[in-house]
Amino acid sequence: MWALRTEWEGIYVPDAEVAWARLEEGQIDAVVSDLNMPGRSGIELLKSVRESPRFKGLPFFLLTGNSEVMFRRVSLESGATEYLAKPCDFKELTARLRNAFVLKDLQDEIKAEKSDLEIRLADRNRDLERAQRELLFRLAKAAEARDVEVGNHIARVGVFSRMLAEEIGLEPGFQRRILLTSPLHDVGKIGIPDSILRKPGPLDPEERRLMETHTTIGGQILAGELPRVLTSLESDEPAADFEFIHTAARIAMSHHERWDGKGYPNGIGGEEIPVEARIVSVADVYDALRNARPYKGPVSREKTMQIISEGAGSQFDTKIVDAFKARIEELETMLEFMSDAQPEPVAQ
Ligand SMILES: [Fe+2]
Ligand SMILES: [Fe+2]
Repeated sequence: MWALRTEWEGIYVPDAEVAWARLEEGQIDAVVSDLNMPGRSGIELLKSVRESPRFKGLPFFLLTGNSEVMFRRVSLESGATEYLAKPCDFKELTARLRNAFVLKDLQDEIKAEKSDLEIRLADRNRDLERAQRELLFRLAKAAEARDVEVGNHIARVGVFSRMLAEEIGLEPGFQRRILLTSPLHDVGKIGIPDSILRKPGPLDPEERRLMETHTTIGGQILAGELPRVLTSLESDEPAADFEFIHTAARIAMSHHERWDGKGYPNGIGGEEIPVEARIVSVADVYDALRNARPYKGPVSREKTMQIISEGAGSQFDTKIVDAFKARIEELETMLEFMSDAQPEPVAQ
């Protein structure tokens, strides 16, 4: 017997095969099935219903004259909503069906609410990510405004770093984080005095030491804890996991470390250096060499490749130098495409 909810209409079918065909046509709100039927049994029909995601949560009542405990257990274990002994009291069956419908309505409501919440949560996460990206980029621009490395340097380092991250097989989400956070590698230069940052000649040892602190300053800006007065304004929600900011902090802190441990600020080496910082280190040097700076001209492609290749295993991670060599054509294309050359002003 089948019950259609709206009119409580019962549809009688002779066996499990016809029942299944009728179920697939749709519009069935509950199944009341005999345990023993010609062909497939009620238990088999029940199992098919429970295995089909399409009929998830469909109330399924099993009826039988056999009141043995074993049948009761098997039917409930197979996912029967209820197990009723024959002869079945019609009023009792109707009452149980009504309960099952109320329960199903509630489950459907919860499901709808859950998916609505999931959509809203996904929207909120997207907004949060956008806000993080926006803030990081504006912070990079603020640092760039004080730096002598003007032009598209920071944007190019982002694009080059992503290419290298892709070449060494980092997952796409991580590649994206590297693209968006590597422009912040020198954010700590905000804290370096102009007299050092803009000094035309070579730096003396003390000035060099101060200049090197742009790594730790950058790391502290990005990884530092918020002042208590700000955190106390937050709600009780657990702290969000700001993966973008953590990645940016690791890059700012470690992009001048060397594979052989002779870099700064911490003298860490090999895989102790976060992979994102090892990548930015190659991308940053490549861009610095290939472009003119106030104190030097651009280095040729061949000479740049030679310098970076010679740094493999000492200054740089060999794996990333290999990635650099494998992608050199694309790197050069992007270098050209994102060059700092300004178009000539149009004559009036
Ligand atoms: Fe730097
Ligand atoms: Fe740089």
